[in-house]
Amino acid sequence: MRVINVKTRLRKYPILIESGITEDFVDHLKKNFSGFNKVVVITNNKVFAIHGQRLKELLDKGKLESYIVVLEDGEEFKNLESADYIYKKLIDFNIHRNDIVVAFGGGVIGDLGGFVASTFHRGVRLVQYPTTIIGQVDSSIGGKVVVNYNSIKNVIGNFYQPHMIIIDPLLITTLEEREIINGLAEIVKYGIVFDRKILKILEENVDEGNDSRLFELIKKSVFEEIIYRCCHIKSVVVEKDEFDLGYRNLLNFGHTIGHCIEKAAKLEEINHGQAVSMGMIVAIDISVELNLVKKDFKDMIIKLYRKLKLPYIIPQLNITDIIGGLKYDKKFTSTRNKFILLKGINKPVFYYNVSQDIVERCISKNMEQA
Ligand code: NAD
Ligand code: GLY
Repeated sequence: MRVINVKTRLRKYPILIESGITEDFVDHLKKNFSGFNKVVVITNNKVFAIHGQRLKELLDKGKLESYIVVLEDGEEFKNLESADYIYKKLIDFNIHRNDIVVAFGGGVIGDLGGFVASTFHRGVRLVQYPTTIIGQVDSSIGGKVVVNYNSIKNVIGNFYQPHMIIIDPLLITTLEEREIINGLAEIVKYGIVFDRKILKILEENVDEGNDSRLFELIKKSVFEEIIYRCCHIKSVVVEKDEFDLGYRNLLNFGHTIGHCIEKAAKLEEINHGQAVSMGMIVAIDISVELNLVKKDFKDMIIKLYRKLKLPYIIPQLNITDIIGGLKYDKKFTSTRNKFILLKGINKPVFYYNVSQDIVERCISKNMEQA
C-alpha cells in the first residue's frame, strides 16, 4: 500500500492507495478512527448498483452500524436540495460529530458529501472514497467541498479537509470510456505542469492501434503509480496553498479557456475533461504566441493526445460566447486577467493581462473550420 500524509493547517490526514484496498476498508476505518458508532455512506444509484453492495457487505461483516444514502446520478443533483435530503437522513440516523460520513462516488458525490459533512454539527468526520479518476487524482484531495446554486457552478461551499482518503484503482475499471478520457485530461495536466514522468509512463503504456487501449491502460498496475504521482502533486500544492490564494491556481492550467468552452457548449455536449484538453492546447498556443515556448512543444502534446483519445479541436462555437465566459473566472479581477502559461515542460508561469486579440486568435486557430 502507498500512503501519502497530507499536512494542512486544518488537519493532517492519510491518503491510502492500493488496488483492492476496498476489501480492507473496514479495518482501515477501525485503525484510523476511535470512538465512532455509526458510518453513513453517501453515494449515487449508478455507483451503488456497481460497487455498493460489496461495500455494504463489508460494513456488515465488520459489525459496524452503517447506513447508505443513495442519490440520483448527475451534476444537476449537486445542489442544496440534495444536501437537505442528506441532512434529514443524518438526523433520522442520529449522527453525531464522532461518527463517520463516507463520500463514495465521483467528484459530484465527493463535493456534495463533503459539503454536508463540513456543515452538519459544524463538521463530522469525513472519508473521501473516490470511484472516478477525477475523484482519485483531484477532487477528493484538498478540501474543496461545494454545491451548485441556481445553475451557478460551485458557488456555495467550504474548505473542509477530509479525515482520510481511500483510493482503490480497481473501482475505476468499471468507468465508461468518456469518463476515462475526462480523468486522463487532468492526469495529462499534472504531467505537463508538474511531472513529465507521468507523460512518459502514459506514452509507454498506450498502443495507438488498439481501440480498447484506455480500458487496458487503467487496468495496468502502472496506472496505480500514475494515480500516486498525481495525488502526491496535489497534496504538495494543497499544503503550500490550502485556501487557493495563488500557487494552487497552477492546477487551473487549461481550465481558464476550458471552463469557457464548457459553458459556451451549454455544459451538455462537451464534458469537463474534453473542455480542459482543448483549453490546455489554447494555453500552449498562447504561450507560443508570447514566445514563451516553441511550437514543437504543442506537436509533442498533440501526439500524446491522439494516443489518449483526448480532443484538441474545439467544435464550432461562437468565439464571443467563449470569451464572454472569462468574466466568471475566479482568478481574474476587474482590472486584470490571469493565465497559467508554459515556458516549457514543467515550467508553468502566471501571466497577467494577455491581450484579447491573442486569446481570440489562439481559440480560433484551434477551432473546427466551417
Ligand atoms: P461524476 O461524479 O459525475 O462521475 C462521472 C460519472 O461516472 C457519473 O455518472 C458517475 O455516476 C459515474 N461513476 C462514478 N464512479 C463510477 C464507477 N466506479 N464505475 C462506473 N461509473 C462510475 O463526475 P467526476 O468527473 O468524477 O467529477 C466531476 C465533479 O467533480 C464536478 O462537479 C466538479 O465540479 C467536481 N470537481 C471538484 C474538484 C474539487 O477539488 N473539489 C476538483 C475537480 C472536479
Ligand atoms: N481542482 C482544483 C483545486 O483543487 O484547486
